[in-house]
Amino acid sequence: METTLLIIKPDGVQRGLCGEIISRFETKGLQIVGMKMMTISEEMANKHYAAHKERPFFAGLVRFMTSSPVLVMAMRGVGAIEICRKMMGATFGSKAEPGTIRGDLGVSNSFNLIHGSDSPEAAETELGLFFNDGEVQSYELANLNWIYDASEEL
Ligand code: RTP
Ligand code: MG
Repeated sequence: METTLLIIKPDGVQRGLCGEIISRFETKGLQIVGMKMMTISEEMANKHYAAHKERPFFAGLVRFMTSSPVLVMAMRGVGAIEICRKMMGATFGSKAEPGTIRGDLGVSNSFNLIHGSDSPEAAETELGLFFNDGEVQSYELANLNWIYDASEEL
């Protein structure tokens, strides 16, 4: 099992797309193990996107991410990091494939609705940045044995 950090960005919250986006992960069979609404501070946005700090879009990105509340989620499943990235689609809404969150729900390149960790290392760092000890839950999914073939996949 892997846990990944997802953020429904300010545009997703403002456009009323939280339910639609969360629903896609739930119906896929992923398990929500953490969720909270928060307004990201400038300090946190700087840390979260530190890898991009030399990029020309960085200042705009930080302004966007701190402009309005976001919904932060911890999502768990076998291969969850890669599955969630695929479900999000390519970075730019204008290029993302239909069937993906960004491809179906947006056209903007910077306002692209959702963030997802892109590696196990990033997931660990980002979960630690956005969730305090005890905020990510551990609980047994009642239908786990119908989501996965327990003899092969778990
Ligand atoms: P994210 O980190 O938010 O999940 O997105 P990503 O991996 O698909 O894309 P990344 O390259 O990490 O870029 C981070 C966010 O910066 C904004 N961006 N704007 N205007 C631009 O050229 C540009 N490039 C990136 C997007 O909001 C992107 O999600
Ligand atoms: Mg990224």
